[in-house]
Amino acid sequence: MPLIAPSILAADFANLQADVSMINSSDADWIHVDVMDGVFVPNISFGMPVIKAIKNHAQKPLDVHLMIVQPERYLQAFKEAGADILTVHLEASTHLHRTIQEIKALGMQAGVAINPHTSISLLKDIAADIDLICLMSVNPGFGGQKFIENTYTKTMELAALLKATNSRAKIEIDGGVNQANAPKLITAGADVLVAGNFVFTAPKPKEVIQQLKSLT
Ligand code: DX5
Ligand code: ZN
Repeated sequence: MPLIAPSILAADFANLQADVSMINSSDADWIHVDVMDGVFVPNISFGMPVIKAIKNHAQKPLDVHLMIVQPERYLQAFKEAGADILTVHLEASTHLHRTIQEIKALGMQAGVAINPHTSISLLKDIAADIDLICLMSVNPGFGGQKFIENTYTKTMELAALLKATNSRAKIEIDGGVNQANAPKLITAGADVLVAGNFVFTAPKPKEVIQQLKSLT
């Protein structure tokens, strides 16, 4: 069974507590939290005060996805805000290995995200050190974009790399995930599915989460 991480980016920001409660009482495993700085990606989302507010109501781990430059400057601050899993972009951190060690030393699980154009092969020397690899299946920056089909191939390549490097990292797919592509992603080797618009635009979000969760 895949882990399901609804993305709070697609929630109602004027009533976050209601959407966090919905996730709490659903079959979801994590709450995916997208942080954008307007530099690494062409959009700004929210920062620590909002994450703290979410954490106050969350009964599931916060899976925080940093789409920011120089993420190493803020690791402690995101820990204090309530991150359980902290994911940084390979393209955004010059000393990625050091960043990973620092995330782990702060007591969080460490993830690395890669953009659609970034080759799986670049993860070879870091794969064994991380808990999560987030494959972007859209260009990061916005919810509600169209899923990039090449993600299936990348997922299979990554699954092979993880095996070859004895890595136990989970494969997370982020962007444009829906009922049509989710089964194929799971077959290709995905462990975690992030879903924003597909969950939050549905009339019955909890049922959508349950459907994703029950896919094999
Ligand atoms: C995109 C974000 C995603 C986004 C997913 O930059 O990283 O997590 O919230 O939203 P959907 O599922 O709507 O593509
Ligand atoms: Zn994300």
